[in-house]
Amino acid sequence: MTESSARLLRFIQVMPNASVDGRFHLRDLPSSGKRIDLLCRVLAAAFDWGPDTWPKSRIEVVAVLGNTVRMVFHYPSERLPVGERAWATVIRDALQGNPAPFVTVGQCNLHDTVRELMAHSDSRVWVLEESGYPFRTALDMGTAAQNSFMLGNHVGLDSVAQSVVEEFNIPRLTLGRRSMLSSHCISTVISEFERMT
Ligand SMILES: C[S@@+](CC[C@H](N)C(=O)[O-])C[C@H]1O[C@@H](n2cnc3c(N)ncnc32)[C@H](O)[C@@H]1O
Repeated sequence: MTESSARLLRFIQVMPNASVDGRFHLRDLPSSGKRIDLLCRVLAAAFDWGPDTWPKSRIEVVAVLGNTVRMVFHYPSERLPVGERAWATVIRDALQGNPAPFVTVGQCNLHDTVRELMAHSDSRVWVLEESGYPFRTALDMGTAAQNSFMLGNHVGLDSVAQSVVEEFNIPRLTLGRRSMLSSHCISTVISEFERMT
């Protein structure tokens, strides 16, 4: 993951049931990929349609699949995949040992991912949850160099992720009481940061 003094927005998509071997069908992502389609939309929101003025090069998406595999995505620049199928191809190839230059894949669980992030003094980790504290009350996110937002999948955070949140005492923030797609949460957070700066 990036270690830089420039302000960075990071999204950690937790996907405990998603395919970790890349053996899914591009024409049937939700079922054969065990909701890998959700990650495709998250990536499109983070690097394509979400940002307006926030530099895309200062966005990172981390996906923890099956609580064993960690994928880290940076802005693909002119190689930007367009559409769910194009992102799914990037994910599949990376999981099968042929990652694009803007993707890294390794063995790492959610606990160690969070522990690494919390080790940096200018890094803040938050979890997005419908029932959390209002987003704008988290004042110190305006001063941190890196803000990382953890998101659940289509059914929220599983018990493993909840125990990581509790162990590290990660503050829970809401963007409103209505449940939204992860991709929409990401574009909302980016908009909030664009507004703050
Ligand atoms: C589709 S939602 C999860 C499904 C939802 N918990 C449910 O059971 O209907 C995916 C993730 O987006 C984030 N999320 C959705 N709506 C949110 C909101 N209003 N405020 C903060 N985070 C939200 C949470 O991290 C959630 O786990």
